[in-house]
Amino acid sequence: MPLIHECVVTTLSPEGRPHIAPLGLIEEESYWIAAPFRPSSTLYNLTHHPKLTASFTDDSRIFAGLVVGRRNWPLTDIDGWPAPRLSAALAHAELAVVRVEEHELRPRFFCRVRRIESHRAYLGMNRARAAVLEAAILATRLGMLPREKIESELAYLQIAIDKTAGEAEREAWDMVKAKIDEHLNDAGANAAPQAARSR
Ligand SMILES: Cc1cc2nc3c(=O)[nH]c(=O)nc-3n(C[C@H](O)[C@H](O)[C@H](O)COP(=O)(O)O)c2cc1C
Repeated sequence: MPLIHECVVTTLSPEGRPHIAPLGLIEEESYWIAAPFRPSSTLYNLTHHPKLTASFTDDSRIFAGLVVGRRNWPLTDIDGWPAPRLSAALAHAELAVVRVEEHELRPRFFCRVRRIESHRAYLGMNRARAAVLEAAILATRLGMLPREKIESELAYLQIAIDKTAGEAEREAWDMVKAKIDEHLNDAGANAAPQAARSR
């Protein structure tokens, strides 16, 4: 399996409006591949505008915020490149789409890295940040997963939060957890009449 860089990708609408979304960029030989599912704004934008920016951040609130619909994260323009980066980025990569592999569910946009630039120091791994990232991914797949899997993953990830989170990570965790709890409560409410019937 190739390495996947979890980052926040900026794409541009046909009118040039920036859109940000968390995405895993797949590193395969000399390409970085963006593989957005259909339908999504990221996919739509990439078919119209073949330049994107990947922002690398250790602020887990941005990943959490984006999956719960908070999109107003500050952006910074890049000299000579149309897609802005997250202002909070520790580093960013400028990517140009050079080839598209069509697929009915998940096309692959093969990119060349034009430039990578660092902005701030990276101060190492943290388990709570990784746990928030896992929970954020889980939160985008709720409809596809059984309740038991969601609950057992959350319980496992909670350990890293309890042991290693700072204030920002706790805030991020609470955002994602609220979204997941809402889904579980709704699913529970909808499942109740069925459970009663099957008894
Ligand atoms: C860390 C992380 C990585 C993700 N990677 C992908 C990905 O590679 N492909 C994808 O379609 N969605 C991915 N998602 C889910 C998208 O961010 C989500 O579907 C988003 O809403 C994109 O839709 P949009 O372009 O309409 O905003 C990821 C989510 C997270 C939290």
